[in-house]
Amino acid sequence: MDCGTIGFSMGDANLDNPVRIALIPGDGIGPEVMAEALPCLAWVASRGRKIEILQLPYGAEHYLATGETLPSAVFDNLRDGCDAILFGAVGDPRIPDGRHAEEILLRLRQDLDLTVNFRPCRPMVPGFDTTVDIEVFRENTEGPYCLQGTSEPGRAVDLAIHTEPAVRRLLEAAFQRAATKGHSLILAHKANVLKHGHGLWLRVFEDLRTRHPEVPARGMHADALLCALVQDPRAFGVIAADNYLGDLISDLCAAFVGGMGVTPSLSWAPHHPFRCAVLAEPVHGSAPDIAGKGWANPVGMLLSTALLFRHLGWEAEATAVEAAVKNALEAGAKTRDLGGELSTAAMGAAIRAGLPS
Ligand code: NAD
Ligand code: IPM
Ligand code: MN
Repeated sequence: MDCGTIGFSMGDANLDNPVRIALIPGDGIGPEVMAEALPCLAWVASRGRKIEILQLPYGAEHYLATGETLPSAVFDNLRDGCDAILFGAVGDPRIPDGRHAEEILLRLRQDLDLTVNFRPCRPMVPGFDTTVDIEVFRENTEGPYCLQGTSEPGRAVDLAIHTEPAVRRLLEAAFQRAATKGHSLILAHKANVLKHGHGLWLRVFEDLRTRHPEVPARGMHADALLCALVQDPRAFGVIAADNYLGDLISDLCAAFVGGMGVTPSLSWAPHHPFRCAVLAEPVHGSAPDIAGKGWANPVGMLLSTALLFRHLGWEAEATAVEAAVKNALEAGAKTRDLGGELSTAAMGAAIRAGLPS
């Protein structure tokens, strides 16, 4: 099977200056999978790519020890002094309100204006339908994730904010991608209920549909979409959705290609408001149920790293990492989530063995 490549480049990094990449491994299995991405960074450097790595300790341990989530000065340095962020995962049962996750991950997404979250689901794991090729474009900064709400006894409110600039940026990226790939585009919405917010989505979608007559595009009620997806995932190409629906749809689509351990994501700001305009992270979370056991699958993290390489214009390196992942899987390398026995480190090593020197 020719799996091709995942994702696309948003421009070439200036090779005269090193690309500064901040690493935030985070919590649970985040550091375990990040440990397998680090050698890939060393590998691109060995091929002549100039990179500078900034390792950051932010996450649950740091918060519990110091009370700090993501200090403002550090955020400013990331925003203005780095080019990219490679992120593991956040979430820890000892912090049930998820305050640190909000103040680290959601803040980075929102305050860096990383509107577009790209979550490709490509089959690389043997046994999964090789004809599935779904790419979810999730708006990454708005909807209920604006975190404005109130709780009082017997009543709770979560506000969902949708703004035209963000909706337009997300949909424009989705239309462009569908046009490039010759895929259809489905907008997932619930405008039959969420008349205001999803009504705005439909209006912008209709406007872009007339500007992109080459893309077969239509809206679907998200509930009906989920049923249709499970019945025939091969019928779908690009799916665009708001932050909340996109979160749910991307996890469902992960199940078509091997589950939470294997799906990557890349978030970026197409309007490039700051120097740091891209963040790569796997779709999965910190998986407290398997953290510390060496069971985590590093594939989602490594494919996210490949997406970042492609975004930086390092196409050969991105393709090589994706091919190494695919070849290792096809040769039978599997962690426990895929029914195998390899540890995280052994899986990472099996993949790295396929990288060209
Ligand atoms: P999760 O993705 O962490 O785990 C869901 C299931 O998938 C678990 O059974 C887990 O063991 C499995 N899994 C996930 N990643 C895996 C991997 N790489 N290899 C093998 N198995 C893997 O989702 P959850 O359990 O709902 O959330 C746990 C914590 O992570 C929560 O605090 C949540 O808020 C957080 N979270 C963070 C992110 C992120 O940082 N981007 C994403 C999702 C969830
Ligand atoms: C994800 C996660 C996050 C989200 C959580 C950890 C806030 O589920 O990255 O998909 O809901 O966006
Ligand atoms: Mn999620």
